Amino acid sequence: MASALIFSLFSLLIIPSQSPQAEAASANTNGVKSVCIIGSGIGGSSVAHFLRQYSSDPSLPSVGDIRIFERNGVVGGRMATVSIAGDTFEAGASILHPKNLHALNFTQFLNLRIKKPSSASFSLGIWDGTQFLFKTLDSNSKFPIFQKILSYTNSLLMFFRYGFSLMRMGSFVENAVDCFSKYYMGFDSRPVFETVEEMLKWAGLFNFTGRTLQEELVDAGLSPLLITELVTVITRINYGQSVSISGLAGAVSLAGSGGGLWSIEGGNWQIAAGLVNHSDVVMHLHEEIESISHLQGFYELNSTKGNSYSCEVTVVASPLDELNIRFSPPISIPARKLQHTYTTFVRGLLKPEYFGRNSVSEIPELVGTIEAPDLPFSSISVLKKYSEKDMTYKIFSRKPMADALLDHIFSVRKETVRINWGAYPHYNAPEVFAPFMLDGLHLYYVNAFENAASTMETSAVAAENIARLILSRFSGQVPSRSSGLKSSTTGGEFLHLDL
Ligand SMILES: *[C@@H]1O[C@H](CO)[C@@H](O)[C@H](O)[C@H]1NC(C)=O
Ligand SMILES: *[C@@H]1O[C@H](CO)[C@@H](O)[C@H](O)[C@H]1NC(C)=O
Ligand SMILES: *[C@@H]1O[C@H](CO)[C@@H](O)[C@H](O)[C@H]1NC(C)=O
Ligand SMILES: *[C@@H]1O[C@H](CO)[C@@H](O)[C@H](O)[C@H]1NC(C)=O
Repeated sequence: MASALIFSLFSLLIIPSQSPQAEAASANTNGVKSVCIIGSGIGGSSVAHFLRQYSSDPSLPSVGDIRIFERNGVVGGRMATVSIAGDTFEAGASILHPKNLHALNFTQFLNLRIKKPSSASFSLGIWDGTQFLFKTLDSNSKFPIFQKILSYTNSLLMFFRYGFSLMRMGSFVENAVDCFSKYYMGFDSRPVFETVEEMLKWAGLFNFTGRTLQEELVDAGLSPLLITELVTVITRINYGQSVSISGLAGAVSLAGSGGGLWSIEGGNWQIAAGLVNHSDVVMHLHEEIESISHLQGFYELNSTKGNSYSCEVTVVASPLDELNIRFSPPISIPARKLQHTYTTFVRGLLKPEYFGRNSVSEIPELVGTIEAPDLPFSSISVLKKYSEKDMTYKIFSRKPMADALLDHIFSVRKETVRINWGAYPHYNAPEVFAPFMLDGLHLYYVNAFENAASTMETSAVAAENIARLILSRFSGQVPSRSSGLKSSTTGGEFLHLDL
């Protein structure tokens, strides 16, 4: 809050010092000629969308050509679907929260259809490798009391096991969600952020990235049982990691297990496709960028196809951790590992013996797991029941699921699809953040925000800020050559307009 106030004061001081005429002139002559975006996931497509939307305001710089480079043959990045037995299932980023306002707006703007989870109630079991520590009643028992895994407040079984800690967990999540909502405030009350740290501090979220989820939850008064069981099940499903992820990633993960979750009918990737379609973008599919060189006043991007493109602004909207882009001059960002999640789809039937049960119907529809050595998967869930003997399952694991292992768990396997995702950062509190501005000039990095939390909505929020940052820095006429402005974070603050 304090920084917002200081920021507004600066704006008041700075803007009147420029005559309205000079301002208009600089906006007209200093449009952004060309923008190149690397990656067509939610981050890259959102940057293009917001650049187009905001630059339609005549008082802001215009935006010329926008190109998006995508190394794969489809747009969407980590939003992707698989098709099994004629049905389409989310293979990557799957769920959206009711308060994900950018995603909701995109859905409306693009005329996409919202899909609510198919089954109102499903059974949950917490598996430790040898037994179920906790199990809700089977959903085919006649008690439809379990609306969703985490409509825990009316779930007596959960309450008996975890008690009031469940409510404390609820308030912890609600507080984080409220802080996050500040990123939807209007331009008058929301500054443009030059760094991830600044962005998080302003919303009151930064401290959550400095400690582990476990530390935060212990302080919030949660019982060790709840943390090692239910919370662990959720972080393993959402981030493939334990409760030692940072508090913010953890809060986001827990929020993503509550009620009202939704997705896009036919696949979330259509958000990216739609935004690209509506943003007057030249889309380069199957084209991977291998070098980015800063030359006199522009960037030269060379692709593996042997093409060369020049752009005034370059936005990296894909995690740099596993890309091989040569930067000249070189950039330096904190080392970060991506957490790989192996997603395996199986059409077939589980073996009840594996879970010490007599019949398949006794296996919960969602089997979550705790942190235990040698547990070969993080979760197994039923995606669709064709009959009592024929289902499609989704398995998350930290290592590939070999055929022999699957045959140990499944009695029938008609179809198996495996995907290896470099899914999200391996979280490590206290988190350190790469800069939004990789070279202090016009090379930007959306995925720096993923160390705070990695979701479709957090990417859209980071992308929106980057679009504003680009336009505000062009309004402020940032020199295109570093003239002693190397550490421009302090100098740059004075150049912002209240976008
Ligand atoms: C969503 O769209 C509405 C109407 O276009 C707009 O008023 C609102 O500010 C948008 N919300 C966000 C979070 O951008
Ligand atoms: C974050 O932590 C710092 C240092 O421990 C403290 O001074 C500050 O008040 C905390 N901020 C919030 C929003 O809790
Ligand atoms: C994008 O545009 C193409 C060509 O106009 C069209 O075929 C496709 O359906 C559009 N996709 C979306 C998601 O809007
Ligand atoms: C990029 O391509 C151009 C034109 O082919 C070439 O002159 C330049 O050396 C290349 N840059 C790098 C870094 O490979």
